[in-house]
Amino acid sequence: MSHHRWLLTILLVVVLLCSRDCQAATSGSLEEEATCPQSSSTTTTGSCTSRQDKDVMAQAADFHAFIRHMFDTIDAHAATLTKPDLRAQESLILTTWLNYFGMDPAVITQTPAPENWLETVYMHTKQLAPSLFFKVWDERARPTQEEIQVLLAIDDSAAVEAARQEHDYANVLMNYLFMEFRHRGFTMALLDTFCRVMLGPLKTVAYAIPSQQNIDLIAQYEPLIEVGAGTGYWSAILQRQNVTITPYDADPPQEEGGIYFDRTYTHVQKGTCLDVFHKDNNKNIMTNHTLLLVWPNNPDNVDNAPEFHSSRLPPVWDTACVQAFLEAGGTTVILVAEREDNIHILPSHPQNPTQPDSGLCATRALQTLLRTEFDLVHQMDIPTWYYSDDLTVWVKKTESKK
Ligand SMILES: *[C@@H]1O[C@H](CO)[C@@H](O)[C@H](O)[C@H]1NC(C)=O
Ligand SMILES: *[C@@H]1O[C@H](CO)[C@@H](O)[C@H](O)[C@H]1NC(C)=O
Repeated sequence: MSHHRWLLTILLVVVLLCSRDCQAATSGSLEEEATCPQSSSTTTTGSCTSRQDKDVMAQAADFHAFIRHMFDTIDAHAATLTKPDLRAQESLILTTWLNYFGMDPAVITQTPAPENWLETVYMHTKQLAPSLFFKVWDERARPTQEEIQVLLAIDDSAAVEAARQEHDYANVLMNYLFMEFRHRGFTMALLDTFCRVMLGPLKTVAYAIPSQQNIDLIAQYEPLIEVGAGTGYWSAILQRQNVTITPYDADPPQEEGGIYFDRTYTHVQKGTCLDVFHKDNNKNIMTNHTLLLVWPNNPDNVDNAPEFHSSRLPPVWDTACVQAFLEAGGTTVILVAEREDNIHILPSHPQNPTQPDSGLCATRALQTLLRTEFDLVHQMDIPTWYYSDDLTVWVKKTESKK
């Protein structure tokens, strides 16, 4: 996405949120609920809520306060920006986010990365948010009344809008509060804004977040080479734990740099798979390394065009990369990505019922190559917001097993 489009999106969203947020008034009703006895009814149909619902409602109020703080801060600063500057906005958002959780925002620009601070941000945010905020209702079943009540505590402007059109309250509420997420179901509409405004800047650090367990597993497969490493965040965190890993990127990020990243967290060398695994180069050095690929590319133009198509997406390279690695004699690949196997699409989507979504970041061809030429030896969950990505380890099949 071009900077200008990004900027426009962010500014637009800020204005939109301000107008939505200014109508918010959840705290009064939540305080009233706090006076309910612990043994009150187990549903939210009456004026009192159960103990368990109350906890979720309190969590929703906390998350509402967080979202409101984030957007008020962005809004206040956006008004004072003399020169609209995307990087300044991204930096403001990340800084505000880390400050909210009492973290030191200096880590954002520190090289080498001093700690796995992305995981800390992730865990704080996930703990603060009611899990419903990141839920995908992946069948056509509508969210329950209880779920709607929780979500309204985060974004009650939906209720205001619905009340304004009283004759069609239920439909307006659904349309305002929820939106379709690819072919996979419904998510809260506010999540889309959250992604644009907050996950966007977070992705200038890395597209996926490693957990300590992920790092410990990857460490067992050293030495490693990471290709398409971007900022090198994953390699930096592995190197901090003395894991031998060398990150490469076709276009290592620089200040004012590429379309996705403008900084690095360790030294990222320039190189593609075709350079690194060239049959005549480095053969003895590289092929006993494990290849790490984290969110390699966006395959939408190739595999998911009915979902999303853009003239700006760079070409995909993941399959050619693993092929070059194989031809050079490589045997072990670790992939962190969404895989078709984990994606549940709506069973009766009118647009394209026979062709499932291949995932957001690895081509169907790569996934097929891995399934046919390799054995899956390990699968592990990774921290996710609401995508279906995981970590998988693949070892080349021996000739006799093919
Ligand atoms: C990494 O190696 C250094 C030097 O040997 C050592 O001081 C440090 O404790 C090691 N760190 C970890 C996480 O193992
Ligand atoms: C990988 O290969 C190089 C060159 O042949 C060798 O020096 C190195 O010890 C090997 N490393 C492992 C972990 O096998």
